[in-house]
Amino acid sequence: MQKINRKTFLKTGMAAGIASALPKWSFASVKGGDKIKVALVGCGGRGSAALTNMVSSDQNIEIIALGDLYKARTDACEEKVKNYIKKNYPSMEKEIWKVSPDKVFLGMDAIDSVLQTDADIVALATPPCFRTGQIEKCLNAGKNIFAEKPICIDAFQLRKIYNDLIPLADKKGLNVVCGTQMRYHKLIDEAVNRIRDGQIGDIVGGSFLRFEGKFLTGWYDVPSNLKPQDVEYQLLNWLAFRWTSGDQFIEQYIHNLDIALWAFGELPTEVIGTGGRISGLPDIGDRFSNMSATYEFPNGATLSAACRQEDGTSGYSTFKVTGTKGTLYSGFGRQIIKGEKPWESAKEWRPALFCEHDYMFGALRDGRHVNTLKTCADSCFAAIAARESAYSGKRLKCDWILKKSQQKLLPDNLKLSDTKTVEPVPSPVNYKLV
Ligand SMILES: NC(=O)c1ccc[n+]([C@@H]2O[C@H](COP(=O)([O-])OP(=O)(O)OC[C@H]3O[C@@H](n4cnc5c(N)ncnc54)[C@H](O)[C@@H]3O)[C@@H](O)[C@H]2O)c1
Repeated sequence: MQKINRKTFLKTGMAAGIASALPKWSFASVKGGDKIKVALVGCGGRGSAALTNMVSSDQNIEIIALGDLYKARTDACEEKVKNYIKKNYPSMEKEIWKVSPDKVFLGMDAIDSVLQTDADIVALATPPCFRTGQIEKCLNAGKNIFAEKPICIDAFQLRKIYNDLIPLADKKGLNVVCGTQMRYHKLIDEAVNRIRDGQIGDIVGGSFLRFEGKFLTGWYDVPSNLKPQDVEYQLLNWLAFRWTSGDQFIEQYIHNLDIALWAFGELPTEVIGTGGRISGLPDIGDRFSNMSATYEFPNGATLSAACRQEDGTSGYSTFKVTGTKGTLYSGFGRQIIKGEKPWESAKEWRPALFCEHDYMFGALRDGRHVNTLKTCADSCFAAIAARESAYSGKRLKCDWILKKSQQKLLPDNLKLSDTKTVEPVPSPVNYKLV
């Protein structure tokens, strides 16, 4: 088997390969010491937490606008963020929280009103199906973006990101930071650079597992008048539906896959996946509860990838990259290399969810252009290819997704009052690749 030759890799810096080659440029509305104005679209658990993470990274910000489907969500977000500021930065609540009632926007198109404000950065934390379209709207409106992962869930959205949105952000000099937060962590960056320097030799394979003991559907109570075919029901249970989440392999496992691809230093060419659904049948949704995939890389290395959310099963995670001279045990914490040249990362661990905002505000304040759409899209690309292989039972060349697939999961002009047939859980018997 031909092995990946480490000499063919580029040595990477922090947030590998994601700073654009553009010259240092001066940001029109944000200078080093200015207040940076932040708005949030999607004020659920992660969106609200992202605002607290931003405050922890930079207290010289003003939160000025919110958008969501529900007032209960924007109210809960306000309470959570204000409490966080009160507890951690007692005198600063009024300086940071500047959302007046007329800057709280509700509805499926709340983003359009948010984009009319003078926010410098718009944070996007709606369900994944909306991300690509909302990124496009933000860029067209001249906004910098913090975009939660995943940033796309099908071939149609993936091509939009690669072909249109990455160049648009670069052309306009707008910063985009995606929520694959491990990319911004210095200890993982150090581990990846050690791989690039040959500390584990040439990479021959990897094993990245993410198993959890509960099948997740959504975070909120669903009113009893809503039926499974109602779009509102499906959005409230967005983790359980394929068209809203992309499935666990994209929605959640993308974090693991992103570290694997970063460490491997290249994209896979072929994939074969498998999986199915045990938990939650026949009640909610149409996604898998377990999935695994084997990826082949250009130089012969193999990555085993698997995730599971199955009620009553063991939680287990492992992130292993194996080379000819050693193995990196990576993960969301400490990094360890065993083999000819052993190494252990520092114990100090700033949460990655803070590091991504350190990176984002640091770049804005320094007038540096950063755009992490590419690395996040690459991970989405590999995840979408594996999902389609697992659903259809077909071994796929990953490029098929980019070059041939016409899949488009999000209906055009979607309204909250629409209905949408609940699809059967995919299997090689009923699933057609499109
Ligand atoms: N980086 C991480 O570690 C991490 C962790 C959790 C979640 N996430 C991601 O964050 C995103 C949100 O997840 P969550 O757990 O906060 O979900 P959530 O359901 O708690 O929040 C989503 C919010 O978006 C709102 N919403 C839905 N459609 C909308 C629209 N068209 N316009 C405006 N608002 C809309 C919902 O009402 C809800 O309040 C997902 O993409 C998820 O994958 C990332």
